[in-house]
Amino acid sequence: MNIIVVGTQWGDEGKGKIVDLLSEEADYIVRYQGGHNAGHTVVSGQNTIILHLIPTGVLHPEKVGVIGNGVVVDPAALLEEIEMLASYGVSVSGRLFISEMAHLIFPYHKALDKASERSKGSRKIGTTGRGIGPAYADKMARIGIRVIDLFDPPLLRQKLESNLTEMNLLLKEAYHLEGFDFDKMYQDYLGYGERIQSYVTDTSQLIHRAMGEGRHLLFEGAQGTHLDVDLGTYPFVTSSSSTAGGACTGTGVGPTQIDRVFGVAKAYTTRVGEGPFPSELHTGMGSLIREKGGEFGATTGRPRRCGWFDAVVVRYAARINHLDGMAITKLDVLDGLPEIAICVGYEYQGRLIHEMPASLSVLQSCTPRLVRLPGWTEKTAGVTSYDLLPQNAKAYLAAIAKEVGCPIDMVSTGSRRKETITLTHPFSAPK
Ligand code: IMP
Repeated sequence: MNIIVVGTQWGDEGKGKIVDLLSEEADYIVRYQGGHNAGHTVVSGQNTIILHLIPTGVLHPEKVGVIGNGVVVDPAALLEEIEMLASYGVSVSGRLFISEMAHLIFPYHKALDKASERSKGSRKIGTTGRGIGPAYADKMARIGIRVIDLFDPPLLRQKLESNLTEMNLLLKEAYHLEGFDFDKMYQDYLGYGERIQSYVTDTSQLIHRAMGEGRHLLFEGAQGTHLDVDLGTYPFVTSSSSTAGGACTGTGVGPTQIDRVFGVAKAYTTRVGEGPFPSELHTGMGSLIREKGGEFGATTGRPRRCGWFDAVVVRYAARINHLDGMAITKLDVLDGLPEIAICVGYEYQGRLIHEMPASLSVLQSCTPRLVRLPGWTEKTAGVTSYDLLPQNAKAYLAAIAKEVGCPIDMVSTGSRRKETITLTHPFSAPK
């Protein structure tokens, strides 16, 4: 069984916990896009571990983690993460594999990311500043440097010299910044190459072999549907294909090899960075949800913008990813609220819209059409059985499933693995 897990909102849906949980039934956990801009938080025993680049499933000692060709790899960040895991007693040696075709992030990508954000002023995207956009831009411009190039010193020299000359010119002339020293960067990257070489392989072949042996694969999406470069709220998106389709091009598997697509949605909505967000709460309710939900970026620590559950956003994700089922996370954060609202449509110039408009200026001018439901006073925190949920919480979940048009298979009621209600396990659900 091969399953893709995707975020259905703007990232931070709690995919880390769900992927970690589903990894119990998977043999291989595969990242297919993004880079260390992601922040997947997992509570494992007494530890809270945040993974940015390495697939979440490696926290299970016998599982294999794969970084596919669609990912952009900052080797310094990768090595740091390997060391961080080792400090928790987690060794990835012999069970972490990195695609030789993945593109590399260089320090000039990070510098350019930050400089370009600064120069945009109020039009900034609010990126994580990790160099993700510029690294993908080089890939698309066909001047990117790939992991495999680290093992061909003359080629690395030639490509890096050419890129750095251009990049230094841009940094100096357009942004009045210092450039980078070629020799240092070249030596640093040759050194990274030596240190990561044992992890590097043809991951597409590895994945195909595993599939042939009947292993279970979990494709772990990073960010969320509305941050997808093609299908998200462009240009306030990340630079990769975070929707289900990206799992195929980002790993080298065909669409017919995927059995299920599973979406993760938070019981309310959050967004980090800039961009339209129709159901955003600018009131004390927004701050209350932020505080109760600990809604601060796992990668940058930035406060997340909070709002009511937006069914238009998740309905779109259900269609774009063709979701078979979904998990609703952080239900417990809504415990004790007297009333909860769901955004079921957008009002725009006297009309009611049920679908995401492509035009950002239209989306920016939309106001949410809210349906209000009574809250619940009982605790859902830690509940593990659907039957034990308060009646109003069940009604809230039923309203979400109806509005989105997708069954809810799992509900998360806390950050620990066991604080989960499983109605249908994605790995045992019939196709
Ligand atoms: P970038 O991916 O750093 O280029 O940032 C582009 C946009 O995606 C910004 O709004 C970021 O806040 C957002 N973003 C990137 N990664 C994540 C994530 O893992 N969770 C939530 N938002 C993200």
